[in-house]
Amino acid sequence: MDRFSPGLAGIPATRSKISWIDGKRGILEYRGISILELAERSHFIESAYLLLFGTLPTRSQLAQFNADLCLHRRIKYRIVDLIKCLPENGHPMDALQAAVAALGMFYPVKNVQDQATQYLSSVRLIAKLPAIVAGVARLRRGDDIVLPRDDLGYAENFLYMLTEKVPDKIVAEILDTCLVLHAEHTMNASTFSGMVTASTLADPYTVVSSAIGTLKGPLHGGANEKVLSMFCEIGSVENVRPYVMKKIAAHEKIMGLGHREYKVKDPRAIILQKLCKRLFEHVGTSPLYEIALEVEQVGEEHLAARGIYANIDFYSGILYKTIGIEPDFFTPLFAMARVVGWLAHWIEQVADNHIFRPTEIYLGEHDQPYQPIQARKEV
Ligand SMILES: CC(C)(COP(=O)(O)OP(=O)(O)OC[C@H]1O[C@@H](n2cnc3c(N)ncnc32)[C@H](O)[C@@H]1OP(=O)(O)O)[C@@H](O)C(=O)NCCC(=O)NCCS
Repeated sequence: MDRFSPGLAGIPATRSKISWIDGKRGILEYRGISILELAERSHFIESAYLLLFGTLPTRSQLAQFNADLCLHRRIKYRIVDLIKCLPENGHPMDALQAAVAALGMFYPVKNVQDQATQYLSSVRLIAKLPAIVAGVARLRRGDDIVLPRDDLGYAENFLYMLTEKVPDKIVAEILDTCLVLHAEHTMNASTFSGMVTASTLADPYTVVSSAIGTLKGPLHGGANEKVLSMFCEIGSVENVRPYVMKKIAAHEKIMGLGHREYKVKDPRAIILQKLCKRLFEHVGTSPLYEIALEVEQVGEEHLAARGIYANIDFYSGILYKTIGIEPDFFTPLFAMARVVGWLAHWIEQVADNHIFRPTEIYLGEHDQPYQPIQARKEV
């Protein structure tokens, strides 16, 4: 059986009920509900419950979930100390990965297939990631961490822990919707990475830390940071056309465009663009937005025929920058949301587990002689 698909493109790695994409029509659903509807009517915690447990929560289920999440928002002082010991100029994703892996040492998991354990570990991870991310941001500036406040919503509390100020309601609401958009996206690289780790029956903290490592790469979660630096490098609307044309001629990729699944504009990019407009009406526009619009326009003129359109990372960086988040914290923010999808796939994986052990097509030599070191020629 020599069928080989680079990047496993088109090869199903699992059966799942969590989310679904129709890349030709630009549809994304969480548990059968359109992302457009969830972005409009739901919020992050409710969508997280939906993704993890399969149904929208009742009023009392949501209240309990929220209360449990609030209870676990704090992180241990030893995790804070661990973050303090890391190099200040290291990437925050590396700090997040290290801190999440270390969390697992404080909360050992005996049986990953036990439902109560799955619930508590999911609650802990979703609740604590914002405290870690905000802590990394503050500690590297030389500021003390800010303890969470139970009376604030999830996104609101994250911004509060980051800035020590209760954020504007609309800004917090917009960020919350961004988290809904980033919470899950079928079998992407980081989810696959988490599932491979999950299939060994490793604990959920190890599963999530594997996924965080994979999310960091510039072809995955790291793209939004690169998109923003591309807009800054372009500098003005007039520079867009020559920049994009030069990239296309050199067969170089334009960050924020293209998607393995979507061959039309990513539905999340459409929502993010609307969120950008709403944010700009509220806090004033960003000059980078005009550049982005022009990149999208020129990109579409030349790449649309090949199904290459704006993806989720195209507008998210501008939005996060306008909210005041530093560019290297864009991907940690993505992780804060995507942890929900990783956990949902972890629960699904261990319910019917088969350890991942794909095969490979060997292209190397056979029957080679062993040469003693004195007989080997220097090259
Ligand atoms: C996301 C991505 C990895 C999807 O990749 P893919 O479907 O496997 O497509 P490939 O990387 O194999 O590219 C297929 C072709 O489209 C071109 N292409 C893909 N994305 C492109 C982009 N952003 N700009 C210009 N050309 C692009 C490739 O150069 C390639 O051309 P070729 O056939 O002439 O060699 C790819 O579009 C990309 O790297 N985009 C930029 C990074 C990014 O925004 N990532 C975030 C994803 S959410």
